[in-house]
Amino acid sequence: MVDTELNRGLEGIAVAETRLSYIDGEAGTLIIGGFPVSELAANATFEESVFLLLNDRLPTADELVAFRTSLASSRELTDETRSGLKRAAAEGVDPMDALRMGVAAANLGAETATAQQAVERTIAVFPTVVAAYWRYRQGDDPVAPRDDLRHAANYLYMLTGTEPSDAATAGLETYLNTVIDHGLNASTFTARVVVSTESDVVSAATAAVGSLKGPLHGGAPGPVLEMLMEVHESGDAEGYVRRKLAAGERLMGFGHRVYRVRDPRAAVLSAAAERFYEAGGDADFFETVSAFEATAVELLAAHKPDRRLDTNVEYYTAALLFGVGIPRDLFTTTFAVARVGGWMAHCLEQAADNRIIRPRSRYVGATDRTWTPIDDR
Ligand code: ACO
Repeated sequence: MVDTELNRGLEGIAVAETRLSYIDGEAGTLIIGGFPVSELAANATFEESVFLLLNDRLPTADELVAFRTSLASSRELTDETRSGLKRAAAEGVDPMDALRMGVAAANLGAETATAQQAVERTIAVFPTVVAAYWRYRQGDDPVAPRDDLRHAANYLYMLTGTEPSDAATAGLETYLNTVIDHGLNASTFTARVVVSTESDVVSAATAAVGSLKGPLHGGAPGPVLEMLMEVHESGDAEGYVRRKLAAGERLMGFGHRVYRVRDPRAAVLSAAAERFYEAGGDADFFETVSAFEATAVELLAAHKPDRRLDTNVEYYTAALLFGVGIPRDLFTTTFAVARVGGWMAHCLEQAADNRIIRPRSRYVGATDRTWTPIDDR
């Protein structure tokens, strides 16, 4: 049998060239569209970040207005999509399952559009799908999108029916920009695999949503929030960490496949969360979040001296999204609202220089069986 070299989890293997983001896991560097993540997050609107990834340059003022208008005009859902989401909400399906279904339905007919239009439509409908599903789940009717609001503000508006504060919009926009792209993470890889077969971007987006759903990828911030709430109430950070580690459990929000230092996105999000909580949020809660991080990192170092386990993006995501009013159950779908910008840019990049992604597996099954007739088994 041919011996195939095995790389479980494809760790350390490059399968595509990209100009979208660069990660140095040892140094703790993340560059998105040519900018350090901190600079992008401090300056960009989400629409500018998306334009940057799709076009490899910042838009001019006129281009930005045109791009915003185009995205805003693609936000509406059809009655059929809304009724599917209503049914999903009534049955209490997982928000990521509702998102996957809603995005697939919202884009039916998109095969007649250009790739650029399909990309824009896909990015534009993510918040509308999430918000409509959530409103139905609360027993309310969806709130129609407002095309005079930017992407981040409109998302919060559609969730609550109230125009959000500037602080909440700024906090969410920082989050969306910070996590818009991150190398060849599992969901982005999934999206590229799908378009590498010359399939379409909607299929790629729905597959990527499925990949992001898992707790080892996008599903961590919900459990992080529960952990923070528990520790905020008990005041016993050290006891919590020791109990979890003694039970052989993982601390959510810590450790990363690529980073061997503190995830640079944690620095951006922790500063944004601090700004938000100091400007009128629950400052005591932020104090707990910050103190817990220090305790956890110290105890993790003692627990695994050979493997640096530091804070990952999900830790401060939980604190920031909770602060700006995103319901805990929508943390992962909100991650998708941001990451779809990266997914779509990767799809275009893959399509522009395509080679089908088709790795091999190492066969470890039987080779010498002879067929047993069914009556003899
Ligand atoms: N808490 C305690 N121990 C940990 C943690 C953690 N958070 N993370 C890793 N370890 C331990 C593992 O148990 C393992 O120990 P072992 O060698 O005795 O089995 C060792 O460190 C190495 O861990 P791996 O699983 O090999 O690391 P990997 O790179 O595969 O996993 C991952 C990275 C999945 C993020 C992991 O650190 C984890 O499960 N963290 C908690 C969940 C989480 O925060 N996920 C969000 C990640 S960020 C993102 O995807 C956007």
